[in-house]
Amino acid sequence: MRVIETVAEMRAARRELALPVGFVPTMGYLHAGHLSLAQTARAEGAAVVASIFVNPAQFGPNEDLSRYPRDLPRDLDLLASAGVDLVFTPSATEMYPAGFATWVEPGGVLSERLEAASRPGHFRGVATVVTKLFGIVAPDLAYFGQKDAQQVAVIRRMIADLNLPVELRVLPTVRERDGLAMSSRNAYLNAEERAAATVLHRALQAGKVLVEAEPGLGAERVVEEMHKVIMAELRAQLEYADVCDPDTCAPLESMRTPALLAVSARVGPARLIDNFLLRDDGTWETGAVTE
Ligand code: PAJ
Repeated sequence: MRVIETVAEMRAARRELALPVGFVPTMGYLHAGHLSLAQTARAEGAAVVASIFVNPAQFGPNEDLSRYPRDLPRDLDLLASAGVDLVFTPSATEMYPAGFATWVEPGGVLSERLEAASRPGHFRGVATVVTKLFGIVAPDLAYFGQKDAQQVAVIRRMIADLNLPVELRVLPTVRERDGLAMSSRNAYLNAEERAAATVLHRALQAGKVLVEAEPGLGAERVVEEMHKVIMAELRAQLEYADVCDPDTCAPLESMRTPALLAVSARVGPARLIDNFLLRDDGTWETGAVTE
């Protein structure tokens, strides 16, 4: 596995790879969720490029950029074991040199609700860095996690709107045994907070049970149910609970397929998100536990 720090070297190394090229963008501090993306890319027969870049442009001024967890040696070991061919680890100045001035700005409801409302500028930072990474790595396939459902919707829209020659692959959320979605930010939690953090998954389960009992019910009832579960957890502060269209993130009035149940809460120092997807065919994507 080769580790590359500059855009010029990355482009040169890309030309030597067998096709197709699968790309897994990350911010590092890797866990089984990230690795499932790389392993699937490999299993699908792609040469695999991963990136590790804590993108300053997607963090707000009061967010956790400076304390975002990092462990490059461990990440490189994990990526090597997952069968990754190239790892791109640029510096911030390599990605945003002096004079950088062009941004990719997602629009529509997608850029107004949920994560976009809580984190102004976040998706502009994500869309810009992902466009740049696509330009540098030139992947045939790009692998993203369902864990970040709104990010998936933003990238899907962006690929279509900008005619980017990349096929998007979205893989299930990888969970801990007790249901907590794996996240680099789980490292911020102490033991009590870690136990309380399962509230996101518990709220989604409660929402799913309600939908299954009464398929056409008002979305507001599902939202209330998820609220109730999160409010009952003293260590959690509700950010939002929502039922929306998975492609646009526009709110739904009554339950239908497809639908996204999305929740966010602060638990201690961590701001966590999670979701369940009710697919078009009425089946659920709720994620998977790795052994
Ligand atoms: P990061 O949070 O490091 O996540 C990298 C990729 O791993 C994303 O596609 C994310 O959805 C996926 N992922 C995270 N946790 C997961 C889990 N538990 N199960 C499955 N997949 C999971 O998302 C970002 O970085 C950044 O916004 C990025 C796209 C790299 C742009 O900077």
